[in-house]
Amino acid sequence: MSKYIYSSNENGLNNFENNFYNKKKINEHPQKPYFDYLSSILTTEKSFFEIGFGFGRIFNFVKNNVKEYVGIEPDVERFKSSQKLLKYNIDKSERFQFFNYFSNDYIKHYPDKKFDIVCISHVIQHVSTQTALNIIKDAFKLLNDNGTLIISTTCAPRELFTYEKLNISDTVNNFNYYCLKNETNKGLPVHMFTKESLLVYLQNFEIKYYEQYQFIKPDKLEWFSNNFYTSKNEITNIGQSQFVVCKKKN
Ligand SMILES: C[S@@+](CC[C@H](N)C(=O)[O-])C[C@H]1O[C@@H](n2cnc3c(N)ncnc32)[C@H](O)[C@@H]1O
Repeated sequence: MSKYIYSSNENGLNNFENNFYNKKKINEHPQKPYFDYLSSILTTEKSFFEIGFGFGRIFNFVKNNVKEYVGIEPDVERFKSSQKLLKYNIDKSERFQFFNYFSNDYIKHYPDKKFDIVCISHVIQHVSTQTALNIIKDAFKLLNDNGTLIISTTCAPRELFTYEKLNISDTVNNFNYYCLKNETNKGLPVHMFTKESLLVYLQNFEIKYYEQYQFIKPDKLEWFSNNFYTSKNEITNIGQSQFVVCKKKN
């Protein structure tokens, strides 16, 4: 069992949802391009590995269209919720496996296991820069030679290191220290990537597809521009999330 605690408690989550969803600041299906792309690459012949499955949102989306799904989630509470997911899918459970692990724990236990698709959905923005790099290295090890890695994360005009409950942009060192200490007082750490700062992490991969998507409603641009420390003009020219699809470099 992993001792990791995802520092967004339920209150934090509620604040986040209040800000982003209930106050209707974001478009209704902000992640549609990402989910559309994901479904376009799924087939029942392919095995799928997810790093940081959270409450199983991606699992629920892919479960009927993959040969096998294996997910790891280091947070114990979130992992427990996966037991419910398994229960609902008990008839097919040999195709689905959930572990309360970090990705490197899984690799230690199953060093020869490889997958056709590895998915890292909105995880790397909540960890230190070194951990993000390690997660991507693990994804490389978990992929078949011809496998596909799909990573989605934040996207901003400038790279920023922020926190869910604190309206500041921090230094990378403070941010990393906060992440590695697994502190919770500032809420969830949120690394805002630019396209370029994300691609730095993917030097062992060949980029096959890249897309940004908008989640901000036009009339809420001001609120977001204040929170992203940028002008309204700048923010309209860039999606607030991005995903990149890549293959291993030979
Ligand atoms: C924003 S949630 C995304 C959940 C899910 N992937 C989704 O898209 O719905 C981020 C998840 O990453 C997990 N996480 C945090 N650090 C991690 C790490 N080092 N390795 C794997 N997962 C991690 C958290 O526990 C949390 O469940």
